[in-house]
Amino acid sequence: MPKKRIMRHGPVVCAVGCDYQILVPVNCDALIKVIVNDKSYFCHQNGIRRSDCAVQQFAVPMRELDQAGSYTVVYQKVIDRRAYSCRKGKAVSKTFTFKALKDKKELHLYVMSDCHGIRKEAIEACSYFQDELDLLILNGDVSSSCETLDQALLPLDIAYEVTKGSVPCVITRGNHDLRGDFAQHLTDLMPSNHGRMYYQVSIGPLWLLVLDCGEDKNDDHREYGGTAAFHEMRLEETDFLKRLANDPYAGFRAPAVRYRFVVSHVPVHFRNKDDPGDHFPFDIENELYTEWVDLLNCSVHPQLYIAGHLHRKEVWTVDAEHNERGLACPTLIAGKPVHHGNRNCFGAALTVNDETAEIRFTDKRHRIAGTETIKLGRGV
Ligand SMILES: [Fe+2]
Repeated sequence: MPKKRIMRHGPVVCAVGCDYQILVPVNCDALIKVIVNDKSYFCHQNGIRRSDCAVQQFAVPMRELDQAGSYTVVYQKVIDRRAYSCRKGKAVSKTFTFKALKDKKELHLYVMSDCHGIRKEAIEACSYFQDELDLLILNGDVSSSCETLDQALLPLDIAYEVTKGSVPCVITRGNHDLRGDFAQHLTDLMPSNHGRMYYQVSIGPLWLLVLDCGEDKNDDHREYGGTAAFHEMRLEETDFLKRLANDPYAGFRAPAVRYRFVVSHVPVHFRNKDDPGDHFPFDIENELYTEWVDLLNCSVHPQLYIAGHLHRKEVWTVDAEHNERGLACPTLIAGKPVHHGNRNCFGAALTVNDETAEIRFTDKRHRIAGTETIKLGRGV
């Protein structure tokens, strides 16, 4: 039987707050450290190095890794972790280059959501910019559920194949990621802000607000079988948004910020009136989501709202009929899977400069299936 590698695949560098979270998925018990600028970073809990987790996570300040331009992962299989010793395999190290998102004239972002298990075609589509990619955004529902570990780790798998650990990523969760046994372990498997999946990201000239809507139906829906408590989470998230709106030092107000984008799997300004015989199950949280939209409009003034969920590739203007709660910026819906016949996956290639975001919807062969140009408003 072939020997299992210690790392499932190489690391993925995710941006959260002002840090990178370097995520290393592993196949077996291992002690791992990441070295940046001669400083070692460990995956530990209150000082105890973790060796038994499926994904080891390392928080590194952005400025450190941006300045270093590379990092080294040192990994060592744990054979027997005992009370008074630890038998380990040979230490192996691998160095990865890293390209910081610099404040240059044009930025290249690729956004994909709703792959729903389509791996190969999603990797091909997300590779559109090749070496020019500055940031990869995987915006939820990359798998159709998290019944297995492989499904839960698919976003990292795709992110590594596209970036090879050398380009920053933002990875959010969608509603389908919340189904199945492994969903309850997502904070150990995905980037988060101390367990919360809504947070700010300040990276180069970009400020991103990552929102987490949880599921798309009310918590008492029969499909969840009593496992959902998303209303509670959304109330906490409302408090977070209020604090953000009232914080004079919030990241989006920093002078270096040129772009303020929201990244959210679900477009909260759209009341989804689909009715698969269930009395509009997707039209939820009207009061709360209206409050979120008002908070965004009054404080953050986003220039673009990046969403998925609807399996479309389109841009909504401010006056589009879908903008029912009156969000004061355009919306990009980027993620359309094609499961039948010629399997495919459409995402959006964004070229962003001071004035505009040029959007190309592209597929696995990098064919352009539509273009849009969004004017980016300025000022907070
Ligand atoms: Fe979705």
